[in-house]
Amino acid sequence: MQGTLFSSQFSSSPIASEDDVARVVALRNAIASYDHQYYVLDAPTISDAEYDVLYRELQQLEAQYPELITSDSPTQRVGGQPLPEFPAVRHTVPMLSIRTETDTEASGAHTFDARVRRELGLTNNDPPIAYLAELKFDGLAISLRYEMGVFVQGATRGDGENGEDVTQNIRTIRAIPLRLNTRSNPPPRIIEIRGEVYMRRADFEKLNNRQRALGEKTFVNPRNSAAGSLRQLDSNITAKRPLSFFAYGLGEVIDWKLPETHAGVLDAIEHFGLPVDKHRQHVIGSEGLVAFHQKIAALRDTLPFDIDGVVYKVDSLALQQRLGFVTREPRWAVAHKYPAEEQMTVVRDIDIQVGRTGRLTPVAKLEPVFVGGTTVTNATLHNEDEVKRKDVRIGDTVIVRRAGDVIPEIVAVVTERRPENARAFEMPRQCPVCGSAVTREEGEVDIYCSGELFCPAQRKQALLHFAGRRAMDIEGLGDKIVEQLVDKAMVQSAADLYRLTQNDFASLDRMAEKSADNLCAALEKSKDTTLDRFIFALGIRHVGEATARDLAHYFGSLETLMAADRISLVAVPEIGDVMADSIHSFFSEPRNRDVIAALRTVGVHWPAVTVAATISGPLAGLTFVLTGTLPTMSRDDATRRIVEAGGKVIGSVSKKTGYVLAGEAPGSTLTKAQALKIPVLDEAALLQMIEAPQKTNLQTTP
Ligand code: IVH
Repeated sequence: MQGTLFSSQFSSSPIASEDDVARVVALRNAIASYDHQYYVLDAPTISDAEYDVLYRELQQLEAQYPELITSDSPTQRVGGQPLPEFPAVRHTVPMLSIRTETDTEASGAHTFDARVRRELGLTNNDPPIAYLAELKFDGLAISLRYEMGVFVQGATRGDGENGEDVTQNIRTIRAIPLRLNTRSNPPPRIIEIRGEVYMRRADFEKLNNRQRALGEKTFVNPRNSAAGSLRQLDSNITAKRPLSFFAYGLGEVIDWKLPETHAGVLDAIEHFGLPVDKHRQHVIGSEGLVAFHQKIAALRDTLPFDIDGVVYKVDSLALQQRLGFVTREPRWAVAHKYPAEEQMTVVRDIDIQVGRTGRLTPVAKLEPVFVGGTTVTNATLHNEDEVKRKDVRIGDTVIVRRAGDVIPEIVAVVTERRPENARAFEMPRQCPVCGSAVTREEGEVDIYCSGELFCPAQRKQALLHFAGRRAMDIEGLGDKIVEQLVDKAMVQSAADLYRLTQNDFASLDRMAEKSADNLCAALEKSKDTTLDRFIFALGIRHVGEATARDLAHYFGSLETLMAADRISLVAVPEIGDVMADSIHSFFSEPRNRDVIAALRTVGVHWPAVTVAATISGPLAGLTFVLTGTLPTMSRDDATRRIVEAGGKVIGSVSKKTGYVLAGEAPGSTLTKAQALKIPVLDEAALLQMIEAPQKTNLQTTP
């Protein structure tokens, strides 16, 4: 064969000989293998000079025969053309997050193990569960897509469903192979390997020194540095940043036989040539998890990279599947964080912040202090009770804690250091921004400004929330602009934003004509949205992104949601009484309805939502009302079982109720059910229906 595989008869460059082709392949394999030794195994076997000789030879051959260049050649790891923006990537398999075990003690692992066992229906007599324990790397989540073994796409997590295409940048990370090592087996047709891009501490220091020497901006910590480097539109910059990677899981997989365990998955990924951290450990039962937590806590500070905790995962993939997910989090994994670093500093003052919902939050203004990897100048004091409980006074020396990503907190006052002139703090009786009276509900700790959208602070926050990336995503509508729009009374409600013209924006301080244009374009673009974003953007108290999504999918249209009463709201899985009240009262408020109508009039729209109608399972289409105490299941357990089997749980009995599930001390619901001749089940009958629907006598009464 005359090297015909790669050459084209129309090519003007010389035709590569068979030997040249073989040499190119050999050089690539050798370089990939040296990269693996150096960047993955941390065990180089040749000198930099020898490596450079090989690399240059490959470059030369490729320059001579450009048709031999393939996307997986090591020469293709250099940066490319800067991008105007990152293209969007839809994750076929969503990139989930994991729930955090809040108990920072090692024994917190027991809670997770107990929950897993309960959810699997295990008793004390069943054997312990096998887990895989890993480090929780402090970087940013990335999905790497390989097709036929070749790296084709790298994407950030984004909102879990839609991320950004950072392929060019990922290519520059030497630890990530451009071709999987499948050892002469056929490669998986498609495999997405997920993990964390991070920066080693030493590399971070070096980078900051270099930045300082160049008079460029430095980074606060390795994580920000990794994130900032990966999100560069110019991959030439990324190429100069020392990024590393650890794999911890899979996304989409097609045509590849999955191992039976997560440990097997990680071993396979390691064999493919990707970095997998060696601290991962197969452990048995909660004791094993606790021991792992302790062991890693002891060596945490000696690791070459930052971690913010450990992660426990049920090892068996079959059990993982049985456990499934709640909202966006798998039931089979948990992140167990370490107690954050704490530092001492002085409270210079206590300010009041007025949030989107009007809540007044006292915030301590601190003497800047470096804690948990960042310089902290503010710490929330949450509410009046908290200030009293901790007895924080202006002038006090306090211990500040910054745990992972959460807002810095004051843990305690160092009373021995209290100066004589320390001043006690009083919550104001009036909103410091708009002067409205403040209110405190019975039994609530929080104080609210009663000014609602009359209060500029609330209006500003509501607008910022509305414009946020995860809400209407109005790019460029930041706090400086919102501040002016509200202060100059140009905007009362979110709908007013869409009535502003290019001239209006151009009249604002420090607003270039180009930016005004961009803002108009961004507003126009934001009109084309989705129902869940829109619901989230409304800023209903207690309604976060996940709830907004649940509501959109459950009700299918805004009209249906707006018309829903409390009972139908509580019937939505994951929605409890407090949320239902809040949603209901939001939509009952005429001013809110007016703003919504105005938004639709100005052209805000979204595609129709397909309601998750094809619910299947033995209880599909059936509704249940729960009453009384069940012998083994909690209310939540029972609700979950019913919902998982396709059924619905609603708040109270009506003629349309399918069944009443009654336990001990059932109350009036049972009487009512009997009056309406609604079949009543006990726990055993329910379980029978779920497990063997065809054999169940549905008329069972306890
Ligand atoms: S597993 C479905 N394992 O922590 C499970 N995540 O909320 C997906 N992280 O931002 C995550 N180390 O990027 C997993 N060993 C590890 C991890 C890890 C760090 C990050 C992850 C995500 C967050 C989890």
